[in-house]
Amino acid sequence: MAMEAKNLGFFNWVSLSSILILAPLVCSKNHGNAANDLLEIINKNRTAQNLPNVTENRGLGCIALQYAQQCRGNCTSNNTLHCHAQEDDFTEIFAPNCGVELPTFGSISGTVLGCQQKYLHPQEAFSSLLFPGPKKLSLVKNGSFTQVGVGIIGGRKKGKGPYIWCVLFSDSKGRNATTFVLEDVGKGIEQKSGCYSGTSFDCSQGDKRFDVVRKLLVLLMFVSLSVQFFDLL
Ligand SMILES: *[C@@H]1O[C@H](CO)[C@@H](O)[C@H](O)[C@H]1NC(C)=O
Ligand SMILES: *[C@@H]1O[C@H](CO)[C@@H](O)[C@H](O)[C@H]1NC(C)=O
Ligand SMILES: *[C@@H]1O[C@H](CO)[C@@H](O)[C@H](O)[C@H]1NC(C)=O
Ligand SMILES: *[C@@H]1O[C@H](CO)[C@@H](O)[C@H](O)[C@H]1NC(C)=O
Ligand SMILES: *[C@@H]1O[C@H](CO)[C@@H](O)[C@H](O)[C@H]1NC(C)=O
Ligand SMILES: *[C@@H]1O[C@H](CO)[C@@H](O)[C@H](O)[C@H]1NC(C)=O
Repeated sequence: MAMEAKNLGFFNWVSLSSILILAPLVCSKNHGNAANDLLEIINKNRTAQNLPNVTENRGLGCIALQYAQQCRGNCTSNNTLHCHAQEDDFTEIFAPNCGVELPTFGSISGTVLGCQQKYLHPQEAFSSLLFPGPKKLSLVKNGSFTQVGVGIIGGRKKGKGPYIWCVLFSDSKGRNATTFVLEDVGKGIEQKSGCYSGTSFDCSQGDKRFDVVRKLLVLLMFVSLSVQFFDLL
């Protein structure tokens, strides 16, 4: 046993340690839908302050993604966003695009938009981009809000910024069963890019570069394992 340990070559050690270091990185689960993650962070913050949760509303989430999409191209290089949808856009563009039944269109009483050239993790986006100060945080703490929708979209080039985040709050009392109802058995829009809360679509496509790193790591692990295997022969 001692002999064997001594005989472990340098490269062997390198590959063994790289497996130990890289394995958790490769195996760690994708963050999945970042819009759902952000929604959970909002509710955790509310729960900690004894406020009732805001209910996830898929139709509202889809509208948030539409809004975010309209703001593409309005994010400056220093991450300021000048974007204002017209009142009519909500009912004339966003809702029809999502398949939200117009008679069920509720009130949108809180809007938060933010943009960043690089991809932020939802926790970072929550605390430093979307709700950085007391003024924005008062939206999270507003007890009259009942529902929420989150939409996130990246740049036109896949895996590139800027990333636009949009959070919409509603104080409609109907909850998600009767407001912002999606026709067509609640399918919403066919998602070409970006993601919105209430769906299980993986929107880590927002961060394609991470996928490339992941693939490289898997390859590296495979090479290390093969080297180990042949050394053992
Ligand atoms: C509120 O949301 C938080 C975070 O998603 C969750 O842990 C908690 O169980 C929810 N509470 C209720 C009453 O649904
Ligand atoms: C409506 O809200 C409930 C409770 O949060 C949730 O379980 C359900 O998935 C929501 N439905 C849609 C269509 O978002
Ligand atoms: C950076 O943001 C400020 C406003 O916050 C703006 O006045 C300024 O022109 C911006 N600079 C660039 C290079 O976009
Ligand atoms: C984006 O910026 C342009 C130029 O400033 C402006 O005309 C347009 O209205 C903006 N888009 C939105 C959705 O606010
Ligand atoms: C909460 O939101 C409502 C709109 O839905 C607004 O009228 C009210 O002033 C807000 N309350 C606080 C404390 O900001
Ligand atoms: C809610 O979020 C804000 C902003 O990140 C943070 O300062 C505050 O501590 C959070 N509150 C709770 C109770 O988690």
